[in-house]
This record gives sequence, C-alpha cells and structure tokens, in this order.
Amino acid sequence: MQHEAHWWREAAIYQIYVRSFADSNGDGEGDLAGIRERLPHLTELGVDAIWLTPFYVSPLADGGYDVADYRDVDPRFGTLDDFDALLKDAHEQGIRLIIDVVPNHSSSEHVWFREAVAAEPGAPARARYIFRDGKGPDGEEPPNNWKSIFGGPAWTRLTRPDGTPEQWYLHLFDPGQPDFDWTHQEVHDEFDDVLRFWMDRGVDGFRIDVAHGMVKDPTLPDIDPDAKADMLDGSTSLPYFDQDGVHEIYRRWSRIAASYEGDRALVAEAWVEDSDRIARYLRPDELHQAFNFEYLTAPWDAARLREVIDGSLKANDAVGATTTWVLSNHDVVRHVTRFGDGEQGLRRARAATLLMLGLPGSAYIYQGEELGLPEVTDLPEDALQDPNWERSGRTERGRDGCRVPLPWEGETAPFGFGSEGSTPWLPMPERWAGLSRASQNGVEGSTLELYKTALRLRRELDALGDGSMNWLDSPEGVLYFEREPGVRVAVNMTEAPVELAASGEVLVASGPGVEVSEGTLTLPAESSAWLSA
Ligand code: NOJ
Repeated sequence: MQHEAHWWREAAIYQIYVRSFADSNGDGEGDLAGIRERLPHLTELGVDAIWLTPFYVSPLADGGYDVADYRDVDPRFGTLDDFDALLKDAHEQGIRLIIDVVPNHSSSEHVWFREAVAAEPGAPARARYIFRDGKGPDGEEPPNNWKSIFGGPAWTRLTRPDGTPEQWYLHLFDPGQPDFDWTHQEVHDEFDDVLRFWMDRGVDGFRIDVAHGMVKDPTLPDIDPDAKADMLDGSTSLPYFDQDGVHEIYRRWSRIAASYEGDRALVAEAWVEDSDRIARYLRPDELHQAFNFEYLTAPWDAARLREVIDGSLKANDAVGATTTWVLSNHDVVRHVTRFGDGEQGLRRARAATLLMLGLPGSAYIYQGEELGLPEVTDLPEDALQDPNWERSGRTERGRDGCRVPLPWEGETAPFGFGSEGSTPWLPMPERWAGLSRASQNGVEGSTLELYKTALRLRRELDALGDGSMNWLDSPEGVLYFEREPGVRVAVNMTEAPVELAASGEVLVASGPGVEVSEGTLTLPAESSAWLSA
C-alpha cells in the first residue's frame, strides 16, 4: 500500500518527562528552559521528535496529568515564552514537538470544577463533570461501584463548608482529577479550542491521554465486582473505556488537525489490549498512531513477541496506519529492570533496542533508556509522590521509580540535572555516576553510543523505518527478519549463542562477540544485530 510520507510513520520520538529531564533554575524540578539547554543532546542522539509530558498549570496531584489551566505553563516549568522559545529551537534543530492533551479529566483546581463545587446540585456549572446523588438512605453510598485506577472508589462526596454532605463526583483516577462529562457541548468546544491554541503556536501534534476514556455508558452501570478495573484490563469490557462514542470525538479532532498547515500528529494513549480494537482509533478519519502497549507489556519471550509483532502489523495495516513500538514510559517499570535488572537486564534491554528500532514503523524512546537506566526500586517511602502509593493504602509504590531525574554529568547527585547543591524532587542514586550521559558519551560500547549508532543508521538506510518485513528461518528463541532493501535484524533471546545463515556485514550489534564469517552469523546469548544483506 502506498502512503503519504507523514513524518510520524517512521519517526523516533523521544519522550521527555518534563519534571525529570533538566532543571535550569536549581529548584529541583525539570523545566522547559532546561530542555532547551539540553536540546543538543537530542540532536546528537538523532531523534526526530520529542513528546513533552504535561507542563500546564497544575497542583501536580498526578504529576501534571491534573491540569488546572490547559492554556498556560505551570510556573515550576516556566512560561509560555519559554515554551515558544523551546519550540522554535527544536524546529530550528530539525526536531518536531508534540505535547500531551488531557481530555478525560481536569484538575479539581480547574476553574470549571471550582465553579461546579460552588454551584447547587443540578446547576449548569455541574453539568461539565459527572456529579450524581449517592445511593442509600442519605445518599451516603457512591452512585455505583466503579473503582479508581489508583485504588479506592472512583467517586468522592462533596461536603458543604458547614459540613453537610451532598453529591458525589466521578474520578477514574485521583480525587484531584474529576472526569469531564463529554455529553456536554461546552466540553467539546473547550478541547477544540485547546487543540487550536497549541497548534496555532506551532506544535506538531498531541499525545492524547486516556484516549479510550472520555465517553461513559450513560447509565453508569455497576461493573462486575471482580473485574480487574485497571487500564490494562482490555479483556474486560468496562462501561467507561473504549466506548464507541469516543470515535466521534476523534473524527472531529482529525478534521481540526488536518485544517492546519504541516503534518500534525494525533497519538492515542489507549490501554486497550486487543490490537484490532486499537486499530479502530487509527481508521483513516481518526487518529494517526497509538502506543503499542501489547508490545511494551510482552515478556522476554521470542514466540510471544513474534505473535505481538505480527498481530500489530496486521491490525494497523488493515486501517492503513503505521505501527509503533515502545519499551518504556513514565507509567511502567523501566525495561532494564523488567527484563531482569543488573547485567542481564541491561544486556536484554540493549538487544531489545535493536529489535524495536529495526521493526517497521515508528518508535518511542523514554528519556534515560538511551543511558540504560534501571528502575529505582529503593526510593525512600517519604519521597514517594505517585498518588498510587497513598490510594493503595501504601501497598503499591507506584511509578516514581521510573521518573527519577536524569544523570547528565559529574560524580555525585544531582549529576548536572540541576545546579550543584540543588535537591532533585526525587532522590537520585549515587550509583548512577557511571550511567551519566557524560560518562557514556563517545565511549565505544556504551548504551548511549548504541542508541546513537542505531538511530543514525535508521535514518540513513532506506530499509528501516516505515515499510514491511519478512521473517527468515531461525531456531526457537530467535527472531530473524529482513527489511527491504538489504537489512537483516537478528535477535537471540536465548541464554546460549546461536548461529544463523547470513552474508554481508554487521552494521551494529547490541553487545560484543557478534560476527559474520563464511556465511554464518554468530550471536552470543541475549544479543542482537543489524546486518547488511
Ligand atoms: C496516563 C498517564 O500516562 C498517566 O501518567 C496518568 O496518571 C493517567 N493517564 C491519568 O491522566
């Protein structure tokens, strides 16, 4: 199938968790000016675009996914001028920029929610959110049994200043994140306008938070009390996720994006397990791509990965969309740690990188994976900030361990993340000195250099990026495929070396000991390579 050459079809997109990337003013939190100063790292790395997690005005009840003002920058992260300057510099350096839009819920500090709370039950100001009377004699039970993804009920009851309890409001996430009522026209109009606001400033697109949310079954029915009501439970149909009505919103957003000059990308964060269901978001008149969470959550298992790769490509091809690949983000345990941690985790992670960047389509790289950062699993309890920690009754530590600020240089924390003596918002392990960017830059065999080489080749070689792939014969536990013209990708996921029939030469390898000789490729345990065919 011929496709228009939209940039996102083969982009390597680097995710910046703004609060943890680079702190320009030493207040312990990353900011837009910090990103701007560190842009040369990204141009050297060789990524095509960056995605910024929310930097909008926010009380940070959920790290900024609780937006109080969709059209302004939180003072902690800078100003609108800083944003414009960053966007301009990024564009000048050939890097596109996409930003998060958070349409399922706002912050409870958003002016609309404040108005709603101040208004009487049934007042128009309440209609933008989902307020209901409680059940039971005095309405003391929540309107239904939905659970918050962060733990506890998905409803919180309002109390008047004099202490009288009244209606309940819905929040699928934290109580500080009330869900909008997307049956209300004003909500639609508001987000049309928010999209325009940022596209007018020049952004290249949006990552849509909880893109499978927004529309709820209007009867708000109880769910099966045993349903695992979290984002990944794509196998259970839930009355608040993946409802048909959500597609109408995206058809509209697609028209808005298309009305702008240039290619504006719309990317779905939809934790829907089945690749055919995901592909529905990518029909030609809807969004452009979706994160491949089936790939992200696949274990270190060649057969399962092959199944996910085939399934994703088939489902996306059917709607003419590009497939995306992702190993880590700010919501999951970093893949070095998922793959076994320590030396083995890193070895596997590096092998997985060449697989991901060798597959057809585009790839998302989460800040720090180019340094081989592991999850920080020993953050002190009093440092934890993810709402998951408290909401789960302190049983789930949450996602802070993958959000620890980046080590840039130097021998001690904060490793150039902020000025010397500044205290990062999450403590950085002293053991990270050897993982800093400076300690890897230009060092042969480092994870950083592996990413740079792979990204450079991915740009240079026609075979890589968008296109198709053909599986080649390989033993169990090995993935081996060809990208036309002239590139082969081989991944040995077993714990023993393997030999494969191959000609050509090694373009890049995930570790030492990979060689082609007399028509045979030798791949050490848990390693991968790209070869010229
Ligand atoms: C998905 C975001 O990636 C996550 O960080 C956030 O907690 C939820 N959406 C709620 O906005």
